[in-house]
Amino acid sequence: MAIKIALLGLGTVGSGVLKIIKNNQKKIKQTSGEEIVIKKALVRNPAKHQNLANEVELTTSFDEILHDSEIKIVVELMGGLHPAKEYITAALKAGKNVVTANKDLMATFGSELISLAANQQCDLMYDASVAGGIPILRTLSTSYASDIISEIQGIINGTTNYILSQMSEKGLSYEAALKMAQQLGFAEADPTNDVTGKDAAYKIVILSKFAFGTKIGINDFTIEGINNLQDFDIRQASRMGYVIKLIGIAKNIAGKLFVEVAPCLLPENAIMAHIKNELNALQIKSQSLGTAIFTGPGAGSSATANSVMSDVIAETSNFVKQINGRPFSNFSRIMKLTSSED
Ligand code: NDP
Ligand code: HSE
Repeated sequence: MAIKIALLGLGTVGSGVLKIIKNNQKKIKQTSGEEIVIKKALVRNPAKHQNLANEVELTTSFDEILHDSEIKIVVELMGGLHPAKEYITAALKAGKNVVTANKDLMATFGSELISLAANQQCDLMYDASVAGGIPILRTLSTSYASDIISEIQGIINGTTNYILSQMSEKGLSYEAALKMAQQLGFAEADPTNDVTGKDAAYKIVILSKFAFGTKIGINDFTIEGINNLQDFDIRQASRMGYVIKLIGIAKNIAGKLFVEVAPCLLPENAIMAHIKNELNALQIKSQSLGTAIFTGPGAGSSATANSVMSDVIAETSNFVKQINGRPFSNFSRIMKLTSSED
């Protein structure tokens, strides 16, 4: 029995999910125990997606998805706060499990949505919301389960890292580099949040919750983006042996959490200085593990879709277990991405 899911959004990430499900069905079935079928995909403008109309049924009506009892998992890939919040709320109330890549939403309404999911005995999973393809939330929930983290910092916005890399290495203007980041699908639909540091701020809010169990909001700390940097700043930094990177940091200083997003000067030989283009990197300092660095594609269609699929498959495996009453064969650890606070 195939597990039926619905996509809300068929843009950069949604189309990546469609492609993985189409191309990797054999592996998906081996891992989760069943086929996954996208029953419907919600879009605003179906005419834009006619090339995919023979692969998935397009709809502009969320209610069609909500009232379809065959659809067990709703995958929200539209972005923004509204109507994403209302759709996810309705899906959870209807007993559907939800996967999302939406950091704006999870940083703003995460606690509310997670407790709704818990009340409904549903899952809400959002591994792709931070650092795109790097499974960092999953890693924080599993590998750091007994460890005490003192600091988490890094490059957590692919668009700005791409812009800064292209400006410093290829001499591109800010505007030209931003345009390329948009064409490559790294930027948000409105890139303001990327360049002003707000996207990284949403991510550091989520990371703080996972790393420190602390609930903070994006108005609780300083956020500075790269939109006020001049070409001159980048050239001058380079002359002095530095590169500029947009860094998000959350650090325990004497029992208080220091959080900030800001452009920083890094020595050219620092590890983070070598993280280029859309790559992200996170350095975590902790009591037992010590210092560890996680790096990989932080934005883009297939890398982000891969993270989304890891959540979808975790959910699918749960269903298969419930249906067949047998233990998982290949998927031993099912994650529920919630912190102790929620
Ligand atoms: P896109 O802008 O490429 O795609 C958004 C999709 O959602 C489009 O198909 C759009 O429909 C649809 N949509 C938007 N609003 C509505 C609405 N009100 N009703 C119905 N459909 C709607 O976004 P991305 O794929 O880039 O991003 C999706 C999510 O993933 C966001 O939360 C983003 O922050 C997150 N994310 C993105 C990454 C990336 O690299 N792009 C990486 C990690 C997370 P239509 O096409 O008809 O306009
Ligand atoms: N716009 C985001 C970025 C997408 O550039 O990092 C990944 O969250």
